[in-house]
Amino acid sequence: MVPQITLSRQGPQVSRIVHGLWRLGEWNMGEAQTVGLIHSCLEQGITTFDHADIYGGYTCEGLFGSALAQSGVDRSKIQLVTKCGIKLVSKNRPDHRIKSYDTTRAHIVASAENSLRCLRTDYIDLLLIHRPDPLIDPRQVNEAFVALKESGKVRHFGVSNFLPSQFELLASKLDVPLATNQIEYSVMNLNGQADGSIELCQKLEIRPMAWSPLGGGKLFYEASEQVQRLREALQNIGRDLGGASVDQVAIAWILKHPAQFVPVLGTGNRGRIRSAVAALDIELSAEQWFEIRRASLGQDIA
Ligand SMILES: NC(=O)c1ccc[n+]([C@@H]2O[C@H](COP(=O)([O-])OP(=O)(O)OC[C@H]3O[C@@H](n4cnc5c(N)ncnc54)[C@H](OP(=O)(O)O)[C@@H]3O)[C@@H](O)[C@H]2O)c1
Repeated sequence: MVPQITLSRQGPQVSRIVHGLWRLGEWNMGEAQTVGLIHSCLEQGITTFDHADIYGGYTCEGLFGSALAQSGVDRSKIQLVTKCGIKLVSKNRPDHRIKSYDTTRAHIVASAENSLRCLRTDYIDLLLIHRPDPLIDPRQVNEAFVALKESGKVRHFGVSNFLPSQFELLASKLDVPLATNQIEYSVMNLNGQADGSIELCQKLEIRPMAWSPLGGGKLFYEASEQVQRLREALQNIGRDLGGASVDQVAIAWILKHPAQFVPVLGTGNRGRIRSAVAALDIELSAEQWFEIRRASLGQDIA
């Protein structure tokens, strides 16, 4: 059973493993199957679902919201995460001429209110600014966050893909705390270690969320030298662990980090979700962790 964890001292409480809905539109599920997926996650203790306004060309929140409404799930037993700030060129947003960012007060509030309608809920547990916007005005973000908090529409706030300097600038101008930074982190992508993002989370005692924890699937199909080295290392360690699979060892590698990453799974396959959850029972040794790191980078530590 997936335990709960608090992202920051002020909350929110989320499941230690989160389910991500970016690819929901690609899974070609009917509503009944999506309801089944939600129940399957809950049965395993995955109570937190990660969205963004733009997923599926602005369609995934609505697909999930319809299923959630049918599911009979008690809203207070789940947590909904969503994001805003990217404007995609899409038939569903005919006024967007080019891809751009928008972190103005008006856009953040309008996007959150639209997410509420699509998700068919009256509050969002955690709203993230999806990517750092070079035109970000922290005062505008603060006004939006405070208005959304005071109206009860959003309970907690955070960011995604922010470098430490971007995180600290925004945090320094806000009247509400940032609960997380959702960054890409996996055996295939160690950037968060190099750019200081993980250390900043540890310093602030907030848990980072890890997106694409299996490299977006590349771990299973890519033919690069990095992936070949990784697959071999993950398979060997899995064998030493008594038969753990590549996905389980890769997720266990993320979970071992003392920053207490919260991985966001991207599969719609119930068996694969169950397999990933079993990674919680794997305790890698430090040597195994470094062996996987070496396979990822193609070189030993200094
Ligand atoms: N904040 C951000 O900027 C950002 C960016 C990207 C993603 N995200 C979030 O992170 C979530 C996860 O990202 P992701 O989808 O890239 O995660 P991922 O788990 O790294 O990759 C998912 C892909 O891997 C495949 N896969 C998973 N397990 C597999 C296995 N055992 N064998 C073979 N293929 C397997 C899945 O295919 P099947 O579905 O066929 O299993 C799917 O295509 C997203 O849903 C979204 O919520 C956030």
